[in-house]
Amino acid sequence: MSKQEDQFKKVLSHAKEYGYVFQSSEIYDGLSAVYDYAQNGVELKKNIREYWWQAMVQMHENIVGIDAAILMHPTTWKASGHVDAFNDPLIDNKDSKKRYRADVLIEDYCAKIEGKINKEVSKAKKRFGDAFNKEEFISTNGRVVGYQEKINSILTRMGKSLENEDLADVKLLIEELEIADPLTGSRNWTDVKQFNLMFGTKLGASAETAMDLYLRPETAQGIFVNFLNVQKTGRMKIPFGIAQTGKAFRNEIVARQFIFRMREFEQMEMQFFVKPGTQKTWYEQWKETRLKWHLSLGMGAENYRFHDHDKLAHYADAAADIEFNFPFGFKELEGIHSRTDFDLKAHEEFSGKKLHYFDPQENKSYVPYVVETSIGLDRMFLAVFSNSLQEEALENGTTRTVLKLPAVLAPYKAAILPLVKKDGLPEVARQIMDDLKWDFNVFYDEKDAVGKRYRRQDAAGTPFCITIDHDTLVDNSVTIRHRDTMDQKRVAISDLKEIIKKEVAIKTWLQKM
Ligand code: GAP
Repeated sequence: MSKQEDQFKKVLSHAKEYGYVFQSSEIYDGLSAVYDYAQNGVELKKNIREYWWQAMVQMHENIVGIDAAILMHPTTWKASGHVDAFNDPLIDNKDSKKRYRADVLIEDYCAKIEGKINKEVSKAKKRFGDAFNKEEFISTNGRVVGYQEKINSILTRMGKSLENEDLADVKLLIEELEIADPLTGSRNWTDVKQFNLMFGTKLGASAETAMDLYLRPETAQGIFVNFLNVQKTGRMKIPFGIAQTGKAFRNEIVARQFIFRMREFEQMEMQFFVKPGTQKTWYEQWKETRLKWHLSLGMGAENYRFHDHDKLAHYADAAADIEFNFPFGFKELEGIHSRTDFDLKAHEEFSGKKLHYFDPQENKSYVPYVVETSIGLDRMFLAVFSNSLQEEALENGTTRTVLKLPAVLAPYKAAILPLVKKDGLPEVARQIMDDLKWDFNVFYDEKDAVGKRYRRQDAAGTPFCITIDHDTLVDNSVTIRHRDTMDQKRVAISDLKEIIKKEVAIKTWLQKM
């Protein structure tokens, strides 16, 4: 097992063991690519959502939020292009009867070549030591250049074939590269076919009159159809944004990688409406702002990179992903898309209603252009959780497992621990708990030796432990222990609130943007 696979396995088991994520309907053997958030997971998820909402809505006076319904009029999805174009190219293996995304098979093939490049780079790094220049090596080493050219030519050909709907060529490419079923090694493939990702459902009581509906595959359309309502009732002036968080559903075929790719997931999206012609500037600005938001959480600038799209969706004139270094490599975490006036114009056409904005400065009306930021809440959860899970070698030769969640996102901010279960210590601990719980989510634990309780809180991600001992009864002071440094300090009970607040407040973290 590679180091990466090993780390990912640890993430999965830790998420279950510490009450973060459970398989959905586990007692019935689960439902593939559907997950439940457990008692700690729901708090982490809520805190990420809140961190996003405050940064996007509260901190921008020209951005407001909405909460549109999951079920929408079915014509919405005709207008948006999802009925006709929200497809994945699928291929079946005739021997194993397994179904795959053809583009993912090809991308995985390229990832293997990229693995070879990485191997060459680490070999050279060892050989050249401090004098090693990675950029120069990648652009001049014959073998690496050859690998990179091969990747580029494969991906360019695949991109073109998919764009031209030439699915026969996608199959040909799979055959030419001799790509085999990853499970069985068989190369006995069917033709490639398009498969729509939307889940259908029905509205109405009788089969004859029922209306076919879809579960929304993105939250964005709920914003577009409400654009004029919000603009008029909120007296919004362009440029302005509408934000929302909520569930989206996709019948994903490649359902692996835990909560990275789910069939039911949550998005945090913002559509920013701008004057036509200014979209490029706003697109660049939102790319920068969103990256800063990520960096404010302190998870390492080296773990993020932009990936600008060569192949653009039907609605976009520019698009980029913010990729994160997940345990299985760099993958898309957030998309920033310059969506032109495609959606609003399409909804005008399909609904017959005008979705123009009257610009008082220009003294004319127009259909605004849109720059969208769209991040998967579950993916963000996985990024935070996997990045935070660490094993540390301690001076005494033992290791400790610690979940170094950014304190602002941690489910519990502090654990309150009476040193022993007697002598009046639990009573004082309860008083401290009753006071702090008005401001923070706090956890009470009096079971086991205090060292063991510290370890439990380290692994659960709680940034502070507060220990009440016999001295507390004399001088009203407690020991506060910091999860990351394990430093312990004696402080007055009356100072606790301020000490914790300073480290967990959203303001403290967002001000780093
Ligand atoms: N409104 C634009 C839109 O939906 P997208 O790139 O398809 O764009 C945006 O999705 C984000 O939603 C992605 O960057 C990812 O974080 C998240 N996402 C998409 N599909 C997902 C899935 N099946 N499971 C979890 N998150 C997903």
